[in-house]
Amino acid sequence: MRSEDSVTRWGVISTANIGVKAVIPAIQASRNGRLVAIGSRDLARAERVALRERGARAWGSYEGVIEDPDVDAIYIPLPNAQHREWTIRALRAGKHVLCEKPLGLTSDEVREMFDASEQSSALLMEAFMYRFHPQIAWAREQVASGRIGPVRLIRSAFVFDIRSNPDNIRLKASLGGGSLMDVGCYPLNLCRVFFESAPEGARALTTQPANAEVELGVAAALDFGDGRRALIDSSFELPWRQFAEVIGEQGRISIPFPFTPGRVETAVRVDVGAEAWERHFPAVDQYQLQVEHFADCIQRGEAPAITRADSLAQAQAIEMIYAAADYRWPR
Ligand SMILES: NC(=O)c1ccc[n+]([C@@H]2O[C@H](COP(=O)([O-])OP(=O)(O)OC[C@H]3O[C@@H](n4cnc5c(N)ncnc54)[C@H](OP(=O)(O)O)[C@@H]3O)[C@@H](O)[C@H]2O)c1
Repeated sequence: MRSEDSVTRWGVISTANIGVKAVIPAIQASRNGRLVAIGSRDLARAERVALRERGARAWGSYEGVIEDPDVDAIYIPLPNAQHREWTIRALRAGKHVLCEKPLGLTSDEVREMFDASEQSSALLMEAFMYRFHPQIAWAREQVASGRIGPVRLIRSAFVFDIRSNPDNIRLKASLGGGSLMDVGCYPLNLCRVFFESAPEGARALTTQPANAEVELGVAAALDFGDGRRALIDSSFELPWRQFAEVIGEQGRISIPFPFTPGRVETAVRVDVGAEAWERHFPAVDQYQLQVEHFADCIQRGEAPAITRADSLAQAQAIEMIYAAADYRWPR
C-alpha cells in the first residue's frame, strides 16, 4: 500500500517515444510515483496515452500540464532546443522537473535553468538514466578500490544508424540535433563520472555531409590532466554500438552495454594481469530507478544525484568538443 503522501504525482510534456515507451511505464511501475497528466500539441495524442495509463488526465497543450494543480513533478522529453523554455516555465510554476539529456543547448542555458530551479525552490535534474543502473556504481567502486590502479585512459562510444529516418528530430538544427548532443553526450558523461573531473582540453573531428543540417558523427580525444585521456565517438551513420572501457595502470574494466543495457541480465568484466572476473547484474529498469530517485529527493527534500555543477560541466565539455572541431555551436 502506498499512502498518497509518499506518491509523487507526475505530469509528462509531449508524447515523445522515450516517454511513452520507457519513462511513463517506469513512473507507473515506481514505488513512489504515478502519472496524473500528459500533454501534447495534439489533444488526441495525449488522450491515447491517457487512455492506456488509466487515471491520467490529457491536455491539448504543454501549459495544461504545467498549470495542473494535481501535478508535483514534470518529466520533459522534448526536442533538445525546447528543454530550456519548458523547464523554466515548469519550474516557475513551482513544479519539480526531470528533463531529458542534454539539459540545455549551451552552458548558459543550463545556468539559466538551474537559476530558475533555485529561485522557485523546485528541483531540477538532467535525465542521465544510465547512471542509476547498479553496474555503473559497481564499476566505479572497482576503480575506487584501486584494483585496476590509477585510471589513465577511457574509451567509450554510443552509435546508431538513423539514415532511414530523415524526419528524426536528431537531424534538425532548429531542434538541437547532432550526434554529440544525442548519443555522444553519454560517453562524454561517463568519462567525466569515472575521472571525477572535467576535460581540460579536447581535439575533435565532426562528420557533416553537405546535405546535413547537423554533424552526424564526432570523434574526440579528451585531456583530463595528469596524463589521463579519453577517446570517445558517436555517430548516426554506423551500425548500433556501445561500450565503455576504463583502463588503469594495473588492469581494465569493460562495460559492454553501459548506456542502454535493456531489461536483461548484464555483466561487467575486470581484468588485472592474468586474472579476470565478471560481475553479473540481474535485469533492472534503470528508468524506474531514475524516477524513484527523483521522487525520493522531492519527498525527502534532498538534492538529486545529478547536480547543477555536474550538468554545467557536461554542457561546457560539449562546447569544448564542438569548438575543438570548429563546429559552430549552437547552430
Ligand atoms: N534517456 C534516454 O534513454 C533517451 C532516449 C531517447 C531520447 N532521449 C531524449 O528525449 C528527448 C526526446 O527524444 P525522442 O526520441 O523521444 O523524441 P520524439 O519521439 O521525436 O518526440 C519528441 C516530442 O516532442 C514534441 N515536439 C514538440 N515540438 C516538436 C517538433 N517541432 N518536432 C517534433 N516533435 C516536437 C512532440 O510531442 P507532441 O506532438 O505530443 O507535442 C514529440 O512527440 C530528447 O531530448 C532526447 O535526447 C532520451
